[in-house]
Amino acid sequence: MRILGIETSCDETALAIVSEHDGRFVIEQNILASQAKTHAKYGGVVPEVAAREHAALLFPLLYQMDIARDGKGIDAIAVTAGPGLVPALRIGVELAKTLAWSWHKPLVAVNHLEGHVYSVWSLEFQAPSGASNRHEAHLNPVFPALCLLVSGGHTELILMHGHGQYELLGMTRDDAAGEAFDKVAKLLGLPYPGGPEISRAAEKGNPHAIDFPRPMIKSGDLDFSFAGLKTAVRVFLARKESGQNFARLRRASVGQAGAKKCPLLGGVSDIAASFQQAVVDTLVGKTLQAVGQVYPRSVILSGGVSANGLLRKTLKDKLHDVDPAITFHAPDLSLTGDNAVMIALAGLFKAKRGEFCDPLTLVADPNLRLA
Ligand code: KG4
Ligand code: ZN
Repeated sequence: MRILGIETSCDETALAIVSEHDGRFVIEQNILASQAKTHAKYGGVVPEVAAREHAALLFPLLYQMDIARDGKGIDAIAVTAGPGLVPALRIGVELAKTLAWSWHKPLVAVNHLEGHVYSVWSLEFQAPSGASNRHEAHLNPVFPALCLLVSGGHTELILMHGHGQYELLGMTRDDAAGEAFDKVAKLLGLPYPGGPEISRAAEKGNPHAIDFPRPMIKSGDLDFSFAGLKTAVRVFLARKESGQNFARLRRASVGQAGAKKCPLLGGVSDIAASFQQAVVDTLVGKTLQAVGQVYPRSVILSGGVSANGLLRKTLKDKLHDVDPAITFHAPDLSLTGDNAVMIALAGLFKAKRGEFCDPLTLVADPNLRLA
């Protein structure tokens, strides 16, 4: 089976073709145009601007594909139908409906979060010569698999019982983890998207400099809350501004190159490192609590925040300490953010189950749920 994937749920315009050969999945084409620079000007994604960019980009990108004229050679089309920004989702969904109808191809509606889950499946990249390279040889997850899904819009613990079978164990009650990274970055004067900026700044900081809270870590359930942590950073900054925390920060910065010359720089990196540590401790702590309750055979970390090096390493190491038999899976770094490869792959599994939708009636759903 060969499938076209289309992703426009947020600020990445993406198209990909994935095929299956005897149980191996091959990325034949992977096209991605990021709008991050456009939205950085506004400090976050502006839905209407994202939609306009998707509309302008989709056809030129599609015409880079060999199937563009008539869809010959593909068996189905998969599109992100939600969740996401509704004006942005609509552009991809309407293109997919039009192509499915005019090319007479079956259409698969994919949940964006299901796409993130499938981003950890073993994929091979096709070289221009036509040969396939196994990018990172690893085993696929085994069911039941516990998924920690961390993105800009979602923070969820999901138990995957089998392909397409999901049970929601816990979710954020307010901000998503990625959203917290983005908002704290803004408070620190770092550009959008904030996640990579915070982790870069944190490399030079002391993660134990400031004792930020680990929200809801003892709540007894598997829910999260990150709004309070963001407020804790805001309050800390306000006090620092008024001088109360300055001495403490200077003490924490001692020994760091340049900290004496530029105390504020040391301050930002210490705040970034301490905030990142609090988020990671919370995410890893809750995931290990879930492991103790549902005894998964695999743990999957995915979504944009899964690019975070500290989170990847801490979860992998702590999981190994708890039970080395549980396999750990995180996406290749090229597939942590939004992309169409994961949509094509999730769509491929749905197509194999015959889960198609009607191109005349499919509607983008910004609140589409996985479970
Ligand atoms: O999955 P994604 O690309 O888009 C959504 O579906 O939301 O996730 C984007 C989020 C942003 O909030 C971004 O700041 C965060 O992922 N992110 C990171 C890192 N790289 C991206 N957060 C923490 N550390 C990173 N290295
Ligand atoms: Zn995403």
